Amino acid sequence: MNDLVLLHAFPLDARMWDVPGALTPSLRGHGQPDLGTVADQVLGVLDERGLEKVLLGGCSMGGYVAMALLRRAPERVKGLVFVDTKHTADAPEAVANRHAMADRVERDGVGEWLVEAMLPNLLGPDASDTARALVRTMVLEQRAEDVAWWQRAMAKRPDSTDLLESLDVPSLVLVGEHDRITPPDVAAKLAVTLRRSTSERIENAGHLPPVEQPGEFRARLERWRGQVGI
Ligand code: MLT
Repeated sequence: MNDLVLLHAFPLDARMWDVPGALTPSLRGHGQPDLGTVADQVLGVLDERGLEKVLLGGCSMGGYVAMALLRRAPERVKGLVFVDTKHTADAPEAVANRHAMADRVERDGVGEWLVEAMLPNLLGPDASDTARALVRTMVLEQRAEDVAWWQRAMAKRPDSTDLLESLDVPSLVLVGEHDRITPPDVAAKLAVTLRRSTSERIENAGHLPPVEQPGEFRARLERWRGQVGI
């Protein structure tokens, strides 16, 4: 049975992953914005599938959800794959920006303005037309209430330094060389908080290596799994 679970970035969905065999839930918020609610949903999916322990991966927001899950049920995770994500909480300015986007999407709906706000930061300069088109489609097909919910939930997430320092599972930290949202130096700080981490940079990619360089992403993941035997 495949026990690889990959959690998507914001404001995207499971279509960002091209990893055959992986479990890739598209996540939805409900109730009060809190990433812990989504972590509970993921745990529910694991229970439904009878997956006791998984290799858990997340890209950006998916990484934040993975950290929320670790806070609740670290015993369900035998390894981690963090892609273009970070373990720190937001600075006040970033929180304000998230609330501004949440308010705007509730007022104006999802549209070109959201694509224009997100795409230049999500994709690196080498992204193919296919990658651009896919990301654009995903952004435009999100529901306004989900986009607002995610932003408010991410704004509230706590710092995860202590949590990650307490773990003792193999972890892979990947980052696109041109990532502007979580640049390589941010990924390096995440890697040093993890006791058993391998850190790699993916060339010709921005914030979304699984979309921009899917073959390279799969190859790095497979190679690391072989190295650590997971
Ligand atoms: C993402 O790609 O999931 C978001 O950029 C994360 C964030 O806004 O911090």
